[in-house]
Amino acid sequence: MKVFIRSWGCQMNVLDSQVLEGAFAAAGYSMAEREDDADVIVFNTCSVRAHAENKVFSHIGAVKAIKERRPEVTLVVAGCMAQRLGESLRRRYPQVDVVIGTRRIGDFVGIVEEARLKGPGVHVEDAYESYPRRDISRRTGKSQAFVSVMRGCDNYCAYCIVPYVRGAQVSRPAGEIVDEVTALTADGVKEVTLLGQNVTSYGHDRGEQGALARLLGKLQPIDGLEWIKFVTSHPRDTGRDIFETMRDLPKVCRYLHLPAQSGSDAVLGAMKRGYTRAEYLDKVHMLREITGGVSLASDFIVGFPGETEGDFEDTVSIVREVGYKNSFIFKYSPRPGTAAAKLTDDVPIVEKKRRNNALLAVQEEISIAHNRAMIGRRVRVLVDGPSKKDSNRLAGRTEGEEIVVFDGPAKLAGEFVAAEITGASALTLFGRLADEAKRA
Ligand code: SAH
Ligand code: SF4
Ligand code: F3S
Repeated sequence: MKVFIRSWGCQMNVLDSQVLEGAFAAAGYSMAEREDDADVIVFNTCSVRAHAENKVFSHIGAVKAIKERRPEVTLVVAGCMAQRLGESLRRRYPQVDVVIGTRRIGDFVGIVEEARLKGPGVHVEDAYESYPRRDISRRTGKSQAFVSVMRGCDNYCAYCIVPYVRGAQVSRPAGEIVDEVTALTADGVKEVTLLGQNVTSYGHDRGEQGALARLLGKLQPIDGLEWIKFVTSHPRDTGRDIFETMRDLPKVCRYLHLPAQSGSDAVLGAMKRGYTRAEYLDKVHMLREITGGVSLASDFIVGFPGETEGDFEDTVSIVREVGYKNSFIFKYSPRPGTAAAKLTDDVPIVEKKRRNNALLAVQEEISIAHNRAMIGRRVRVLVDGPSKKDSNRLAGRTEGEEIVVFDGPAKLAGEFVAAEITGASALTLFGRLADEAKRA
């Protein structure tokens, strides 16, 4: 039996798909490279914007032709969109056999096998299963792994579907996380990225404060582990204790993804983000004071209901004021059932596009300046593997998540190297291996 798994959405979905790969392999399945070769097709989907869902709909549409040729193929739609749409997915697309929500990763393969014997089903229950077991060999790279520290989100930002499709926040016990990271590093992992929708509120669901900083302290001594990153941090829950770990714990990377979403107090209030522009900027100031500077990234939504030209200008100015390494910029997309869906989506699409492009241009200018300032410096790079754009070259990342492209032997994949930066674009640094790395 062969299974094909395709993922959309955030790193949490990527990790869920890796966990599923391990579970299918343990059940005797091999991995198919293409939908066409598979007996079971799994689409692990995202609901965060309408665009994310539309891409999946077109892939589901394409499976119809495969099932006409091979009716025995099982199409499974999983993840956030499956959780959101449930039964209606099967009504709209009869080629969908099984719908499995976000909380059934642990018994996923069992559900699929049962459906193959007994017929289609929909499994979108709200209750969490116990934490899914994981095959640690299924991970992002030889030296890199994602590690889940929590599930769900309690924030209910007005625009966001995530709390509805992923459920309430449940933090994973620290002991389990330490054990998983220990096992991963014993198997050669050097960098772990801790994942949560709101990772700096780790422990809050158990009434604990400062739990992420304590967890970082417990991970620091693990042998073989070199870099610890964590995403995503909500500005309201991110503060001094976290910034001090970046200063004091050498393995905690100087990288922070701290989405601001908007620079306007009126919009931040309407988004129910729980902080003002001034509070956000105070945090950034404190971060820089304590650490001496880290690589900062953000997310922004343009065209939220009621966003005026003045509000948008405030977003442009916060991007300039903070000077992010990079920002992910999204056009507001109403999500059914969220608080913002009740507001009039009153910024016309052409205007959303204009604001999106204008903000991108400002960020690009800043990113280029940030990257050019690195020219001439020597940086430590963890090599991912061949560059996506040019497979003759290598690509890797710095502790600040800057991408570095350089020439070098393929055997360096998964290794740390020293690179001298010789050139820069908005998204990429170009470099050459420092001499000692060439001999390594
Ligand atoms: N938990 C993370 C983000 C999860 S979603 C956090 O709170 O930072 C990733 C990004 O998608 C968000 O930061 C936001 O910028 C964007 N996003 C979420 N819902 C959206 C919507 N309805 N329309 C447009 N962008 C959205
Ligand atoms: Fe969505 Fe807000 Fe939760 Fe992030 S913190 S997942 S934006 S509700
Ligand atoms: Fe998308 Fe679900 Fe992640 S909605 S962004 S895949 S949590």
